[in-house]
Amino acid sequence: MRAVCFIVAALVMSCYGHKTDSGSCTPKLENALFEDLLSMMLKIKGIQKGTNQHDETFSAFAASLTASKTLGSGEIVKFDKVWTNINSDYDPSTGVYTAPKPGVYQFSCSVMTKYNKVVRVLLWKNDMKTVAVYPGSPGYNTGTINMVLELKKGDKVYIKQGANDKDIYSESAYNYSMFSGYLIR
Ligand SMILES: *[C@@H]1O[C@H](CO)[C@@H](O)[C@H](O)[C@H]1NC(C)=O
Repeated sequence: MRAVCFIVAALVMSCYGHKTDSGSCTPKLENALFEDLLSMMLKIKGIQKGTNQHDETFSAFAASLTASKTLGSGEIVKFDKVWTNINSDYDPSTGVYTAPKPGVYQFSCSVMTKYNKVVRVLLWKNDMKTVAVYPGSPGYNTGTINMVLELKKGDKVYIKQGANDKDIYSESAYNYSMFSGYLIR
């Protein structure tokens, strides 16, 4: 790619120089030449990527819980304080992240228990459980999920309560429980 750019630059420059000398390289030819080379370069770039289209969609989100909660059975945790939501693929009103395009995605989640209580949450992909954390008592305890998933466009990822362990801790001054994710590529 760098070499092609260099050739184009060299051609344009030599053409320019030529024109001032003898006038044989007209601006019209110069432009046509430049456009041909530009479209050739774009085609080469497209083939290398395996596509002719440039999809620059990026997606990333992070959200935390503003308050402690006793979760309902199988409740999806709605991390309500949104820190980052590039491309708006995370919906804080449902707690669900929807993949905007096929790709490899990274997700993280940390949950803290209420004092001397237990919480169990799982990272779900559509209707499938993936991995879980189960921080227990005594005291306050935190569990963390780190996961990489290959998703199709429209796949849904969320954090859902499991079994009988429902006491999640957070507070607005210290955002102990959070969920985040982003498109790697
Ligand atoms: C948690 O988030 C709030 C804003 O919602 C912020 O004021 C506070 O400093 C954060 N706490 C920590 C420990 O980062």
